[in-house]
Amino acid sequence: MNRFEITLGLLAIVGTVAIIAAIGVGEPQRMALESRGWAVRHVETGAQLYDQYCASCHGVNGSGGMCPPVDQTSGLHGGDIGPGVAWRLEELGWDRQQPFEYVYSVLASGRAVSTRPELYPGNRMADTSGVMSMPAWSEEYGGPLRPDQVRDITSYIVAFREAVPDDATPRPWPTDAPTERPTLAAAAVVTSTVASPPEPPTAPLAPPTATLAPPESPTATLAP
Ligand code: HEC
Repeated sequence: MNRFEITLGLLAIVGTVAIIAAIGVGEPQRMALESRGWAVRHVETGAQLYDQYCASCHGVNGSGGMCPPVDQTSGLHGGDIGPGVAWRLEELGWDRQQPFEYVYSVLASGRAVSTRPELYPGNRMADTSGVMSMPAWSEEYGGPLRPDQVRDITSYIVAFREAVPDDATPRPWPTDAPTERPTLAAAAVVTSTVASPPEPPTAPLAPPTATLAPPESPTATLAP
């Protein structure tokens, strides 16, 4: 082996190491992008499933209705994003670092009875004992969705936390509001007031002034 071959061999080794190092330097960033891509895909699939299965009760965009909101006002978003934000998790004695686990568990097995029936009766609006307030969704509990679909929907709901401002302290019921929460009966009264027919007019209607001209008698008679 002459000197030329040895130099060539050394150069080849150095070159290979340099190429591997160059690829390796960008790797953490590439991995981060890749996993972000996966997360976004889960959220997108979850959003579609949400529209299909949940929006009828929990509102488009998770804003709630006869069922609780699941968006950034829901108190389900905990972790490190500020005091008060995870009030719902705290209310239930759930670890505020585990919004994903809480949402997944409720979603997978459903709720036989609402924890706030006066606000959010769900399927139990009429007295339908034996019916679940919120049905179970995961196949594991006799629901229609696969566990990975349940995880995707959970990812979608948990992603609402990105809309929570840093200093947010959303509460379900403002402290300066009346202490009584609206009941279903109260809601019914409000609806019936709104729906009541308009007052009849007090002044009688003036009689019609113009009379219709009598129809003209036919000028042409039919030939017998
Ligand atoms: C028939 C109406 C109905 C449907 C459909 C429904 N839910 Fe619910 N959901 C409820 C009710 C009722 C509750 C219980 C509220 C309570 O306990 O205060 C609830 C509770 C929840 C909770 C817990 C909220 C909290 O603050 O504790 C989550 C999360 C949730 N639902 C997500 C979903 C998702 C996701 C879907 C779609 C796969 C879905 N729900 C479909 C009625 C429904």
